[in-house]
Amino acid sequence: MFSTFLTEIFVKKLIAANWKMHKTRAEARDLIKDIVDGLHTKPAINTEIVIFPPYTALDASLASSEIALGAQNVYPAEQGAFTGEISTSMLQDVGCTWVLTGHSERRHILGESSIFIGKKTAFALEHGLSVILCIGETLEEREMDLLQSVLYGQIEDALYDIKDFSHLVIAYEPVWAIGTGKVASADDIRFVHALVRGHLQKICGKNHIRILYGGSVKPENATEILKIDNVNGLLVGGASLQAGSFLNIVHAAQ
Ligand code: PGA
Repeated sequence: MFSTFLTEIFVKKLIAANWKMHKTRAEARDLIKDIVDGLHTKPAINTEIVIFPPYTALDASLASSEIALGAQNVYPAEQGAFTGEISTSMLQDVGCTWVLTGHSERRHILGESSIFIGKKTAFALEHGLSVILCIGETLEEREMDLLQSVLYGQIEDALYDIKDFSHLVIAYEPVWAIGTGKVASADDIRFVHALVRGHLQKICGKNHIRILYGGSVKPENATEILKIDNVNGLLVGGASLQAGSFLNIVHAAQ
């Protein structure tokens, strides 16, 4: 049973679309319709797709057998006086089954700490959401030879409170590759994904946690990145905002 589960999650590639602060409700509906139509014309075999629209576009009717819905953020409390925040049950109420945590824009622009990200990650998992936890180093940290300590620290802080890892996915997104057009080299990705895999095994003894790559993924580089060891899928920003380029990335996973 466990090995069937393992085979299934590692054979299937997880392709996630982070729309960030883009798309009105009408635009979101049109884009998802175009993606689903594209998947009916050319099905995505052995691929799992999750889309993270902005909150205002979240709508259970957009989820389907082809596409799961996720939210770009969540607050780690059931309800209460948390102005501007959103709970796991509110997200589930609008059809979300996934949430993103630890995205570098939340770490570096919104000032979220690794400890707070860990709280959100554990809370969301305990409340029935699957989580993509993003980790990644800045260019400065890489140049100062801090790659390993930054990534290990982000992983340890985030995993500290987690009891059940079965719905956790990690996305390695080097900050310098996000939205910049600078994709990490195949050697960089192979090296970091092996480091992350090894560290996950060491600290939680689990080997079924999928590791995605994110950062300037495009139809032109998706096939090559997906062939790298320990790359179990992709987290796509800019190239997920048009049906054509996103579908080309999804089909690159076949
Ligand atoms: P990008 O964004 O594909 O536009 O680089 C990726 C992300 O931020 O998740």
